Amino acid sequence: MFAVATTNTASVSNGERSAGRRFDREHGVTTQAILFLDDLDPEFVGDAHAHATHYEPIPVADFRALVSALPGEVVRTSTFIDVGAGMGRALLLASTSPFKHIIGIEVSPGLHQVAKENLSQARGITQLCRDLRVVRADARLWTYPPGDLVVFLYNPFDEIALAQCIGAIVHSRLPDDRVHLIYHTPVHEAALRSFGYDELARHPFGAVFRLHGSGQI
Ligand SMILES: C[S@@+](CC[C@H](N)C(=O)[O-])C[C@H]1O[C@@H](n2cnc3c(N)ncnc32)[C@H](O)[C@@H]1O
Repeated sequence: MFAVATTNTASVSNGERSAGRRFDREHGVTTQAILFLDDLDPEFVGDAHAHATHYEPIPVADFRALVSALPGEVVRTSTFIDVGAGMGRALLLASTSPFKHIIGIEVSPGLHQVAKENLSQARGITQLCRDLRVVRADARLWTYPPGDLVVFLYNPFDEIALAQCIGAIVHSRLPDDRVHLIYHTPVHEAALRSFGYDELARHPFGAVFRLHGSGQI
């Protein structure tokens, strides 16, 4: 359907890609691919395209390790948001945890369509959250829902877009709302510093943070 990019994705091993293909086979979905937005639908993506990384799905084991660092009580009270949901793999994996709601935001119409199909076709997943959906939007400009959030980022964009996105999230919080951030491949972690956070867990591939305060992280 889409051209497969030839980017060097050295951080993802062959073993992890095999596990990704197995995930697709077992659950009847299509998530294992590497694609550039240039090859997809740049005319729809506009300015977001200049800041975006390529599409690549989260390695299954990495996702599970990062989510397991969240306190159970945080999972139960939070809406899980995948910023840059791609084909929806992280949404399907998140649905095996008892999040309150699960929402993916994806700027590419092509990837958004694939994610919708994957969410409706997936089989053999023991879902503890069935309220999951994917919206087609620019994550920097989207209106985030109220309440506690767990924000998942698999390195979707550059430092400028990251700061805009986190700003949009933080400034729409009420005083008691909590925001946890799971950041895989946290190459632009410095952009978070101006907001302030505590680190809950760190792996070679990513980290989990609790952002400070309400409206002030
Ligand atoms: C590395 S992929 C991650 C895919 C998915 N989260 C996963 O873990 O399987 C990054 C995704 O971010 C999307 N993206 C980039 N900029 C975006 C933006 N401004 N708003 C929404 N999605 C964006 C890309 O289209 C791509 O699908």
